Amino acid sequence: MPTAAHPPARITRDDYERLYADSVRDPDAFWGRIAQRIDWMRAPTQVRDVSFDVADFRIRWYGDGELNASVNCLDRHLDTRGDKPALIFEPDDPSQPAQHVSYRELHARVCRLGNALRHLGVRKGDRVTIYLPMIVDAVVAMLACARIGAVHSVVFGGFAPQSIADRIADCGSKLVITADEGLRGGKRIALKANVDAALAMHGTNSVETVLVVRHTGAGVDMQMPRDRWFDAVVDSQHAHCEPERMNAEDPLFILYTSGSTGKPKGVLHTTGGYLVYASYTHECVFDLREDDVYWCTADVGWITGHSYIVYGPLANGATALVFEGVPNYPDVSRFWNVIDKHRVTLFYTAPTAIRALMREGDAPVTSTSRASLRLLGTVGEPINPEAWRWYHDVVGDARCPIVDTWWQTETGGILISPLPHAGTPKPGSATKPLPGVRPALVDANGELLDGEAEGNLVILDSWPGQMRTVYGDHPRFIDTYFKTYPGMYFTGDGCRRDADGDYWITGRVDDVINVSGHRIGTAEVESALVGHAGVAEAAVVGFPHDLKGQGIHAFVTLKAGIEPSDALRSELVQCVRTGIGPIATPDRIQWAPGLPKTRSGKIMRRILRKIAEGATEQLGDTSTLADPGVVESLVADRTAS
Ligand code: PRX
Repeated sequence: MPTAAHPPARITRDDYERLYADSVRDPDAFWGRIAQRIDWMRAPTQVRDVSFDVADFRIRWYGDGELNASVNCLDRHLDTRGDKPALIFEPDDPSQPAQHVSYRELHARVCRLGNALRHLGVRKGDRVTIYLPMIVDAVVAMLACARIGAVHSVVFGGFAPQSIADRIADCGSKLVITADEGLRGGKRIALKANVDAALAMHGTNSVETVLVVRHTGAGVDMQMPRDRWFDAVVDSQHAHCEPERMNAEDPLFILYTSGSTGKPKGVLHTTGGYLVYASYTHECVFDLREDDVYWCTADVGWITGHSYIVYGPLANGATALVFEGVPNYPDVSRFWNVIDKHRVTLFYTAPTAIRALMREGDAPVTSTSRASLRLLGTVGEPINPEAWRWYHDVVGDARCPIVDTWWQTETGGILISPLPHAGTPKPGSATKPLPGVRPALVDANGELLDGEAEGNLVILDSWPGQMRTVYGDHPRFIDTYFKTYPGMYFTGDGCRRDADGDYWITGRVDDVINVSGHRIGTAEVESALVGHAGVAEAAVVGFPHDLKGQGIHAFVTLKAGIEPSDALRSELVQCVRTGIGPIATPDRIQWAPGLPKTRSGKIMRRILRKIAEGATEQLGDTSTLADPGVVESLVADRTAS
């Protein structure tokens, strides 16, 4: 790797203790050194300028530095790694050929698209929405935006038109890049048709152009002059594109994520700190080496795809696999077959996938070799020790370390994770903070907890990959993350610290549900449900789910005169699927004659959570409710259903 000295890729237990102590004693020196791992057009002389105090709030990293992220991910590798595969594309259908895209080819493709975007009037600071399947062009699109200083907003291909429209409207995108269709597990997804439907919705008329990648070759409706075929516009462009000089604090991308209230918020990451952090963590957590074949199974529509398929690996000159498909198509050995086919050494996936595959037994795994594997990772939700052990013993043949990486869209990169050579792993624990990261636990009053303790997870000081704002709503950023516990970044997660100082994430403590590693805001699902004309009120909570980690339980109160029925239940499910997307589909809809409320009218979600969990003996004090009888009837119905 180009930058192995900043810090050593292989961090041993002794290195860790020393590096950690140094990093928190002198963060300027530490992060100044780490910043040398990327190529700057103008090297920063400032490292950090940070205050979490809301009266004097600021987060700036490497403030006078200048760089271009695409140059770091492409140009700087051309001399030494021009012919090395940057990406290996494995299509949904295994009978179709895989594609190897070298750094040189990726560079040319990014430059062509960068020129095309400029030709179409996209300028530095303009927003571009990307709604693509997991194909090489998704990476090309992100890097082409970075090259010309446009801010990308990738929208996960599973989101419905309403969600696309909301995201386009929020950031005022000028251009959308999509494909005719996506393919997942043999099923076609009508991406272009979804974009058409989104652009017919309110608030989306900022979009001037839609570029359409020909992927499946399906016929789509092209609306001229708005819609243009990607190849027709891009292929004729020059393969050299002058990169935009970006200040370290210029925006790189917006990525929407769900919170406890309201609509998803546009998490904004900037260029310098984010790139330094993504590349640093990718190298040290995965113990990256030059000949690794690295595969992260996430979609580029999520932060994991941004940081650990695109920016981290490519900044490090690694070979990253881009997988279009799903773990159970054409059969449940697909992951392991892909690992053997491409000799994958580093494999990074979500606990939900591990649990689903564990259910299928060992044979689909043990019938494959997996001899190339060197390290396994997980992300997105707590991993139960049983799934951890199966991953370790069966998938990794008990010889590959596991990194259980805790982080968030907001953090830009991994904050808490075992390092592969720095200690004894504990199944289910994300263990220790990376050097430079200062987690802490607080009680409900914000008092710091020492030693062995359980509380709310906060971070005491900034790190370069931290989000800088909620796009277009800076007060929401400060309110959400810095007001609950003044002077600290609040993660929204509960956490336990054991006697060894290792961290065990227990899950969200706010109104966010983590379904198969995807964040779903209860408020969003509720608003989709009350969009149905028959619904008076809805309250949504999470409950423990064997495969998904958490499932979605919706309590729905119908308007007077509307009768519950299976048909109505299907209509409500449809409201959520079309309002948000299939990932937010409620697992259960319970008809509720009323909802438990305080006398001031606030819904008591704590009680609903207990009912959904079936823990009705732990309902706690219900005497403050306006109508305690409501709870009895909900418990009785839940038991009956
Ligand atoms: O609750 C934590 C959980 O996922 C949340 C962040 O979700 P998102 O922003 O979508 O990013 C997911 C990928 C980074 C966190 O607040 N989470 C993430 N990783 C872990 C985790 N919970 C437990 N263990 C993890 N390793």
